[in-house]
Amino acid sequence: MSAPADNDVSRAPTGVRAPGRARLAARTLRTDRWWLSPLLTVLGLATFVVYATVRAFVRTAYWVPEYHYLTPFYSPCVSTSCVDGSSHFGHWFGEMPSWLPLGVLVLPFLLGFRLTCYYYRKAYYRSVWFSPPACAVAEPHARYTGETRLPLIVQNVHRYFFYVACVVSLVNTYDAVVAFQSPSGFGFGLGNVILVLNVVLLWAYTLSCHSCRHVTGGRLKHFSKHPVRYWIWTQVTKLNTRHMTLAWTTLGTLVLTDFYVMLVASGAIADLRFVG
Ligand code: FES
Repeated sequence: MSAPADNDVSRAPTGVRAPGRARLAARTLRTDRWWLSPLLTVLGLATFVVYATVRAFVRTAYWVPEYHYLTPFYSPCVSTSCVDGSSHFGHWFGEMPSWLPLGVLVLPFLLGFRLTCYYYRKAYYRSVWFSPPACAVAEPHARYTGETRLPLIVQNVHRYFFYVACVVSLVNTYDAVVAFQSPSGFGFGLGNVILVLNVVLLWAYTLSCHSCRHVTGGRLKHFSKHPVRYWIWTQVTKLNTRHMTLAWTTLGTLVLTDFYVMLVASGAIADLRFVG
């Protein structure tokens, strides 16, 4: 096998080692704490992944029968393994083996939605893959092919995950509405406040998606001929500017919602009731 020729573009070094780039021995000349942001990002993501994985598999304390609180990690619960009352959309499957999460129907799509999200890509490309870890800090990889080939070209399916995420947000909305219950009929408590807050922020995160912005206003040649789509696009664009904030906030509200339902369902605390 012959060695690659210097003019073989497909094998030529890329990124900071590309021809024409300054040859610096130091990885970076930055003297500030540039590593703090990627470190906090990876800690935040790892905390969520560990918490969500544990909760998705434990199969306990996910449903409060008195008030119809269902944690989003188990919604929709469509197996006969789900506890009585928690299957708002009926039983689609029989018993599930204990190694499968009861939310298996949507968890892969939600994971795919977040993993392919433009913001999260930036976050984990920088903090996990160091590509690059920060501005003006050289990445450790010799080559850069971006998202033009496998496996990262798969990131382009994000727009399809967006459609599924809309359906899941509808399911979570239904869960939040049917939770206005008490043993005597209508009622609400702190759990409802948390469920509603979570679902509102989930909608804000979902609708602030870059794919949503494209769906609403993309490929239009004349905004003036599509005033309704233009108006929707401007609203989505405003939300889109807060996409990173919403990405982190919703990780927090998902954990908060699940944790609160777990505490009430397990009897560790009583729900703070306002009515009923
Ligand atoms: Fe983040 Fe679509 S870009 S959810």
